[in-house]
Amino acid sequence: MKIIHTIAELRTHLAAFKHPAFVPTMGNLHAGHLALVRQAKPLGDVVVVSIFVNRLQFLPHEDFDTYPRTWEADCQALDAAGCDVLFAPSEKELYPEPQAFTVQPPTDLANMLEGHFRPGFFGGVCTVVMKLFACVQPRVALFGKKDYQQLMVIQRMAQQFALPIEVIGGPTQRSDDGLALSSRNNYLSPAERVEAVQLSLALKAMAQALQAGATILPALEAVATEALEARGWKPDYLTVRQRSNLQTPSAAELPSLLTHSGLVLLAAARVGNTRLIDNLEI
Ligand code: PAF
Repeated sequence: MKIIHTIAELRTHLAAFKHPAFVPTMGNLHAGHLALVRQAKPLGDVVVVSIFVNRLQFLPHEDFDTYPRTWEADCQALDAAGCDVLFAPSEKELYPEPQAFTVQPPTDLANMLEGHFRPGFFGGVCTVVMKLFACVQPRVALFGKKDYQQLMVIQRMAQQFALPIEVIGGPTQRSDDGLALSSRNNYLSPAERVEAVQLSLALKAMAQALQAGATILPALEAVATEALEARGWKPDYLTVRQRSNLQTPSAAELPSLLTHSGLVLLAAARVGNTRLIDNLEI
């Protein structure tokens, strides 16, 4: 695996390839990232992974400074997973001056759910992904479905800017008990780690209620929220949305969306000080 820190060297190296497949990350890699690398392998003639903790997508009170940085372990894991090029620019390399040009995603998609609770998050994500796309010039890029809304925002960005890049989602990887893998799981205490599975169980319970005929979504969401609150969680949202646009379906639309696998259940909640997100397509 070749490790590259500058845009100039990356461009020179990638000039020999026609079809780069790209997996952007912020490091602290887990099996979910590595599954994306393996998924990328047959999709390109070179697999590029980036590691860059992007300041622009963190709010001032969030964990930019403490975000886990695990360089040695990440390099070893990427090498073993078949990554060909690791692009790890410094902040000075990617943002040599304040990033005054930014990508502002449409409010209908980016100001709800994660964007509502983390204002500016998707603008920060789109700006860095656009810049990484400009550096790598991939033909295909892969993002985990755990960050469901992020994947949708980036797919929409690629489509609206006519980027010649296919943006593909990779399935969420889970621990044996069902907890979605996430770098932020490292923040959980042993007791919180045991409790954390309740988020995916809450989504499963919502799916079962829908499949059993529940149609009053605010009531369904309130029951799920209160159940987690009773266990000491602080939920931001547990909600039923249409897969196509993340809007709330009407009661009339529900039966057809259920029949045609058109729904996604999304959740974000804090256990202790750790904010977890998860989703379930049904
Ligand atoms: O999902 C992530 O790790 C980040 O949001 C991404 C896409 C690498 C942009 O910084």
